[in-house]
Amino acid sequence: MVSNRLKAISSLINNGESIIDIGCDHGLLDIYLTINKKCKCSCCDVNKDIVNRAITNIKKYDLLDSISVFVGNGFEDLNLSDDTVMVLAGMGTSTILKILNKNRTHSIVCQTNTDLFSLRKSVCDMGYCISSENIVFDNNRYYVSIRFERGEKIYSYDEYLLGPFLIRENSKLFHDYVFSLYNKNINGYMKSIEYGGNTDLELMINCLKKYI
Ligand SMILES: C[S@@+](CC[C@H](N)C(=O)[O-])C[C@H]1O[C@@H](n2cnc3c(N)ncnc32)[C@H](O)[C@@H]1O
Repeated sequence: MVSNRLKAISSLINNGESIIDIGCDHGLLDIYLTINKKCKCSCCDVNKDIVNRAITNIKKYDLLDSISVFVGNGFEDLNLSDDTVMVLAGMGTSTILKILNKNRTHSIVCQTNTDLFSLRKSVCDMGYCISSENIVFDNNRYYVSIRFERGEKIYSYDEYLLGPFLIRENSKLFHDYVFSLYNKNINGYMKSIEYGGNTDLELMINCLKKYI
């Protein structure tokens, strides 16, 4: 029922934690966390039709008494309790950061495919550190999930770009992921050289080369 991508997010969540899943779409993650991890889930989406679909899914599992579902926009203050774990998945980094400008709790779990350097660096600059990470290949794409907790830690460029835990774990999947990032960016980099170079791209390519 649940994809490896959603299982990867749930593996960063502890049994029994209180969850707010912002941008819940189908609500499948919340159903999974309620059944398998005994979490206390609330979930919302900005789109009313989507929320109705989530309610239909949650009803199928007879969990309407356990999961609170509402129409809610993460760009507004959702009045979250600090001990709730925020889940922000399947959105771009800029949307995630915009939501975090209005809502922050002690723990935040994010999954995005866009600009992970900026996600890690910006969330850490807000006073968080990275407490766990994982990577999966699902539906022909790599998905990185990251859990942040309030705290302070200094990270290197490489760690912001590729993830301190993923670098340390050094798995075959991680190498494949780095290789795919390299292939995605190398043409742009070569072209940029013709026009005098691009320092950001050069930094990234040189970093990726080290981990292929
Ligand atoms: C691609 S879906 C991802 C759904 C789910 N989190 C997952 O990972 O499978 C993104 C969802 O975020 C919702 N969304 C986008 N911006 C939002 C916001 N500002 N507040 C709440 N939900 C939002 C969209 O309506 C959509 O249902």
